[in-house]
Order: sequence, then C-alpha cells, then structure tokens
Amino acid sequence: MCVPQRCLTNDDLAQIVDTSDEWIRSRTGIETRYVCSDGETTAQLSIAAARAALQMADANPRDIDLILVGTTTPDHLMPSTACQVQDALGATRAGALDVNAGCSGFVYALAMGHQAIASGEHNLVLVIGADTLSRTINWQDRSICVLFGDGAGAVLLRATEGPAGVLATLLGSDGSGADLLMIPAGGSAMPATAQTVEQGLHYLQMNGREVFRFATTIIPRAVHQVAAKAGLPISEIDWVIPHQANLRIIDAAAKRLKLPEEHFIINLQRYGNTSAASVPIALCEAIAEGKIRPGQNIVLVGFGAGLTWAAVALKWGIEPEEAISPRWRRWWRSLIYRWARLRTDLRHLGRQVTVLLIRLTERRVNGKKG
Ligand code: COA
Repeated sequence: MCVPQRCLTNDDLAQIVDTSDEWIRSRTGIETRYVCSDGETTAQLSIAAARAALQMADANPRDIDLILVGTTTPDHLMPSTACQVQDALGATRAGALDVNAGCSGFVYALAMGHQAIASGEHNLVLVIGADTLSRTINWQDRSICVLFGDGAGAVLLRATEGPAGVLATLLGSDGSGADLLMIPAGGSAMPATAQTVEQGLHYLQMNGREVFRFATTIIPRAVHQVAAKAGLPISEIDWVIPHQANLRIIDAAAKRLKLPEEHFIINLQRYGNTSAASVPIALCEAIAEGKIRPGQNIVLVGFGAGLTWAAVALKWGIEPEEAISPRWRRWWRSLIYRWARLRTDLRHLGRQVTVLLIRLTERRVNGKKG
C-alpha cells in the first residue's frame, strides 16, 4: 500500500471550512486523511503499491500477465493508469487496463482478475485500487471535503492448486443512481470549458443521505449473497473488509448482518474514504498487524459511484513468513525498474531522433528540387 506524505487532521480542515473535529468524528469516525501534494499522482501511488506487492509476493514483474487498476481518478482520461504502471514496473508481458467502478473499483478488479486466472488464460494478475479524490473535491464544500483521502493498495493473484483462494465473487450495478455520486463535467457529455470550471461542475458532487441509505442496505445484502455463493455461513466469516466510507455505515451493516463489529477491519479513522484504495489498504494493514491468518474466511465488500457494488469471499492461505524476499531478488527487481525507466527514455529519444532525421531528409530533398 502507499499513501501520500501529507496528513490532514480534522483540526486542519476546521481552518479551511466551517467544521469541527467533533462533528467529523461523530458523523463519520474519520480523524485524519492523507492527501497528495503538487506532483503526486494516482499512477505514482499505484506504482509504489505495486512494487510493495511484488516485494511481498517475491514475484518477477516480467511474469505479470495482466494489470488491472480500479480507479476513477486516473492521471489522464487517456491513456490508462494501468499502462503507466505496466511501463514503470517493466511488466513487458502484461495487458493493462483501468476499471472504473467508483469506490468498488478494487473489488470489481479483484473479481475480474480472479476470473482471468480461473479461465486458465492467466497465471499472475496484479490488481490495484488507487484514487486521488482530493483532486476532484471542492475544498470549500464542508459536506464533502472532510470525507475523502488519497491512496493506493495492490495485491498479486497467482494461479495455485489448493483449498485457499477466491471462493466466490459478486458484481452489481444500478445506473439509475448515477446522479447520487458524480463529477458532471470533463467527460464527453460536458467537456471542460471555462464555464464548467466557473460553475464548479468538475468537482465531485454527492447526495450524502441517499448514498448513506444505499450503503447500509447494500453491504449486508452483498455479504449475504457472496457468502451463500461460497457456501459459507455468516457465522464462519472471520473478517469482513468493507469499503471504508463512514463508521456509522459499517456499524449499521454489522448490525444488519448480526456479525459483531470485532469481525470488521476498520481503519477509516486514519485514512478517511480513499475510494478504490480503501479495501486493499485495510487488507494490507490487517496482514501487517497479524490479524489475518491462514485458513481464515474473509469477505471484501465495496460500494460506490455508478451505483456499483462488489464482494469477494476468499480463504486466506499465506503464512506471513512465506512472504520474505531474498536480498538478491530485491536487487534484481530494482534493476528491472531502472531498466524499464531507461527503456522508456531510450524509446522517447529514438522517436525524437527519427522525427529529426525525417525532417532533415525532407529538407535535403526539397533543397535539391529547388
Ligand atoms: N461540518 C459541520 N457541519 C456539517 C458538515 C461538516 N463537515 N457537513 C455537513 N454539515 C451540516 C449540514 O450542513 C447540515 O446542517 P443543516 O442541518 O443546518 O442543514 C448538518 O450538518 C447535517 O447534515 P447531514 O447531511 O444530515 O449529515 P449526516 O448526518 O447525514 O452526515 C454524511 C453527512 C455525508 C457524513 C453522511 O450522509 C454520509 O456519510 N453519507 C455517505 C457518504 C459516502 O459514503 N460517500 C462515498 C460513498 S463511496
């Protein structure tokens, strides 16, 4: 996982808008969040998270078959952030694409990555959830700016035989709720103009109460459905890792599921809502804290803009000590990253030299004609 350096506390926000630490904590549970400084981007966070995942899994970037990045805040509308990740990792054999499913993006991409492996087509899939919603927020709008943070989380899915792994997946959508969470301008329906910027239409707009209602209904429903698909009684779920939007949403979902809150991984106090990054960041932290053990049943559940929702039931299978990478292979990976950088620079240079040569040739031919 990776989050930006810059940390904003609730008191910091109270200096910007009319809010208070007490209001934010009691209505959302959030205490701090990390936001990008100038120059930090979704791709950069994704690349750092991906390198950490490769390190953990002791995997070679050149063995990656597919890179999926769940994000709604790509560095550019085109090309995809996944292609930037592919380039920086030197993952020369990989296909790469972004998955735009709002805050459900990571769980969506995880389900799709699993299907790509289950089909027999791929062996190693890199799945990333990354967002920098701070770039889309009106920092004068107190009802929104207190909720979100930036970050990225990544996992590697590997084809293996055995009882552990993904047990079941669930994807859902309801486009009739598109207007509940939306950035109206900047797409083909309303290209960015001076006027759209003046009207603030490039900012994230949200109907908080309706989204709240949707979230408290959809989390328990999705968990029930994916657990049923996996043949897993709710009482046998060791951990639910929900999208980290609001503590009150998670409380309500836990009550409806009749599953004690101790079975929920919650870290939104520190990070706020990091959109597609929230589930993998919570997963990474839970692994690092030793909460997640081999043999445990885990349900990941996301919801967000679209509207979308997604859930994945899985059985954890990795001992933490398995994840130690020998030093020489770390060195090898860092060499691959440096070579990837050099390769890109050389290709850019090669293209510039080609253009220059073509121009010189054209000038010489035109000179002779003259
Ligand atoms: N500080 C202080 N007051 C604030 C505030 C803030 N940051 N934001 C809103 N308020 C005010 C409102 O203006 C309103 O005042 P009013 O009654 O005088 O009009 C009051 O607080 C209550 O607002 P309300 O919207 O009813 O609060 P709420 O209890 O519903 O909580 C959210 C608001 C946004 C925290 C809550 O609706 C929520 O979490 N929704 C889901 C959002 C979400 O998860 N989005 C991402 C999904 S992926």
